[in-house]
Amino acid sequence: MLRVLVLVSGGGTNLQAIIDATASGKITNTQLVGVLSNNKTVKSLERAKNAGIPAVSVSPKDYADRAAFNDALLEKVDSFAPDLIVLAGFLVAIPEAMVHKYSNRIINIHPSLIPSFCGVGYYGLKVHEQALKRGVKVTGATVHFVTEGMDEGPIIAQKAVKVEDDDTPEILQKRVMEQAEWILLPQAVDDIANSRIRVENGHVKRS
Ligand code: GRF
Repeated sequence: MLRVLVLVSGGGTNLQAIIDATASGKITNTQLVGVLSNNKTVKSLERAKNAGIPAVSVSPKDYADRAAFNDALLEKVDSFAPDLIVLAGFLVAIPEAMVHKYSNRIINIHPSLIPSFCGVGYYGLKVHEQALKRGVKVTGATVHFVTEGMDEGPIIAQKAVKVEDDDTPEILQKRVMEQAEWILLPQAVDDIANSRIRVENGHVKRS
């Protein structure tokens, strides 16, 4: 059983997609061992508790500086002994020490077709605002492994989503979630749990 720890910052609809897919058997060989949030008051923690998954928070506000927070975060993550860490809308930069320790064992969902609309400053609604501003006709979502550079790790899967003429950032965000994110992320967890993918020379291959 793959021990999966999900890191969240907000509403947790991607977390919910993973919980539901695990419950329905779409994701197999997986145990959701914990949910960790950097924010004490988010809906995600409630979703975890409702599903009987241990939920904890580690907030930067409780630490003197970033280094102390990063140490506490890694310590908390380690305490779950995860095989896979899923960043499901986690808005904190992953400390370098964690990226190295969990190399090829951290995945992230990003709401665009990387390398478009990604990197520093592209998170949440901002991604969709920029896509609309540029006038792209197709956007989507990407699941990728996490490396040191933001949104730069090996791509596991991508799914395209159409942009409609009257879209607002909110409408587009919802469509990208429904048509891409909530499908791709559970699929990636299942692929990893069942050893269907591997990283070779910085690229993801399927077996
Ligand atoms: C998603 O759009 C995800 O791609 C991005 O942050 C959002 C999180 O939404 N990284 P939720 O908390 O899963 O509802």
